[in-house]
Amino acid sequence: MMQRAKEKILVFTGAGVSAESGLKTFRDSGGLWESMRIEEVATPEAWERDPAKVLDFYNMRRKAAAQAKPNPAHLAIAQLETAFDVAIVTQNVDDLHERAGSSRVIRLHGNLSEAKSELDPSYRIPYPLEGLSLDDRCPRGGRLRPHIVWFGEAVENYELALEEVSTAGRMLVVGTSLSVYPAAGLVSYARPDAEKVLVAMDIDACPEGFEFFKGRAGEILPKLAQKWLSEKNR
Ligand code: OAD
Repeated sequence: MMQRAKEKILVFTGAGVSAESGLKTFRDSGGLWESMRIEEVATPEAWERDPAKVLDFYNMRRKAAAQAKPNPAHLAIAQLETAFDVAIVTQNVDDLHERAGSSRVIRLHGNLSEAKSELDPSYRIPYPLEGLSLDDRCPRGGRLRPHIVWFGEAVENYELALEEVSTAGRMLVVGTSLSVYPAAGLVSYARPDAEKVLVAMDIDACPEGFEFFKGRAGEILPKLAQKWLSEKNR
């Protein structure tokens, strides 16, 4: 018997989806870029100038992410897989989607669970929980840095993300200010006939064609997932 392909949902997430897990966002009040300047910790120039400061910042974030647990928003997204073909495109560098049970996570900005060599980016090791030190080296002698896409570096998996966005029947955007490009530009590649929803505490401008749900992802997503799942089962 032929099985009908499941409808595809593209979920596009930013820091707000992990806020209720206790991880700071970037641009909200109290966010990471309020106490730290991007130019000091998140650029290749910062790494050249003051690598110890850069490592301190990511060692702190690595520890926080490891201690955090998936919240109801991550779990609701994972639950959608019971009836839909779900692809997640994330700007986040934590691993809470995977730990919630989601099986297909496409990362644009890297992965805080990995360190890589500055000499040979294909050399990767798990990011040590006790933190990276400036003495940590790859076998060729290169320093180890977080596997994070810094400002001025190329995002990863963009073509794949575009393909997934432009073939989804529903697009769910959660917890992003849509202010960092090229990631933010993905929303304009959603299919015109796709159902498009944006969930955030606040947003400067809602992209065209999106319905805006204002509030906490951990409260809104379980209800939305329930609604979409019950529509499917009807
Ligand atoms: P931002 O900090 O720019 O935006 C967070 C968004 O999440 C805002 O729209 C908030 O309203 C929303 N938000 C906060 N708490 C929420 C909650 N509980 N439920 C739902 N929404 C909530 O974070 P991003 O858009 O992810 O890049 O930032 C994009 C990129 O900028 C990051 O990937 C990072 C950063 O610099 C790099 O470091 C390369």
